[in-house]
Amino acid sequence: MKKYTDISLKPYNTFGIDVNAKCMLQYDSVQELQHIISHRDEMLAEPVLHIGSGSNLLFLDDFPGTILFSNIRHLDIVTENAESLTVNVGSGMVMDDFIALCVSRGWYGLENLSLIPGQVGASAVQNIGAYGVEAADYIVAVHCISLQDGSERLFSNAECNYSYRHSIFKEPGTKGHYAVVSVDYKLNKTFVPRLEYGGIRRALQPHTTLTAQTLRETIIEIRRQKLPDPQVLGNAGSFFMNPIISKEQFSALQQRYPDIPSYIVDEDHIKVPAGWMIEQCGWKGRSLGQAAVHDRQALVLVNKGGATGADIVNLCETVRAAVQETFGIKISPEVNFI
Ligand code: EPU
Repeated sequence: MKKYTDISLKPYNTFGIDVNAKCMLQYDSVQELQHIISHRDEMLAEPVLHIGSGSNLLFLDDFPGTILFSNIRHLDIVTENAESLTVNVGSGMVMDDFIALCVSRGWYGLENLSLIPGQVGASAVQNIGAYGVEAADYIVAVHCISLQDGSERLFSNAECNYSYRHSIFKEPGTKGHYAVVSVDYKLNKTFVPRLEYGGIRRALQPHTTLTAQTLRETIIEIRRQKLPDPQVLGNAGSFFMNPIISKEQFSALQQRYPDIPSYIVDEDHIKVPAGWMIEQCGWKGRSLGQAAVHDRQALVLVNKGGATGADIVNLCETVRAAVQETFGIKISPEVNFI
């Protein structure tokens, strides 16, 4: 266990916002977390916020309580047969390290999620997704500890209530109540590439043989081209979610914008890329003070250096208003404001 007091959170959020926390506690095991919770009066300054690697957070102010984070990093095989296996992975393992390990061992399914920042715990909370794959497609169960009383709680995939960038852990009544300590992922032993998402097939053309490793490398290459490296330019990946609209609303938009990109969600709903709409509004690459819309992917807001949480919120609201005015569509942040 590691404890820090009056610590700058700048290294702990990928936006690089410079605020302080009163206290920060890193735990290395379930038992340590349970010990902290059972001694909460002595060990925790309230309020308590559990974070991952801070890649989906925007701090608006100093944090007056305790930031908790997991350093649980084991990987155990739970069940295995000729076709598949289920592994239990510690929430503090870096998701991309886990994916790299899976690919190297011939455990398939997560290749398209390569290089998404964050840890395994957050993958189960955010239902991270990219290039036609979501974490929820491979999650079997999520092991949690109640932050109220330290009791164990196992959520099956169905209980997690997964949908696009959504889980029960983001719902009122559950949000902030649990720490994810490990996740059970079920992976295949046969490589079945998922290439339906635009751009992947094209990017793969130089490769003569398609392996999970070449697919992973291609995904990493695509992400590196479009998405800024938080070490160089603070950001939290996609700042907004892609809005899901009705088929009727989409048809009306298509009349005005025949080139509008889209993804089918179900028979009645279509997902529209917010990045495309933001670009159409002329905001791609533009700044407001030290906050900017990334010049290679308009869904990403960046900290050009020294931006405050308020600067980012100001840009966020300006961009939202522009999209609302031009397209009549509300876009919502994916990033959590603290
Ligand atoms: N587009 C533009 N201009 C832009 C950005 C996008 O015209 O500035 C267009 C693209 O040309 C394309 C469409 O919008 O036709 C979709 O763009 P892209 O493939 O880059 O994906 P996205 O919808 O903007 C989502 C995820 C990403 C994920 C990609 C690929 C969300 C909120 N974001 O972005 O996730 O990597 O799809 O699957 O769903 C993240 O969560 O941090 C993240 C990067």
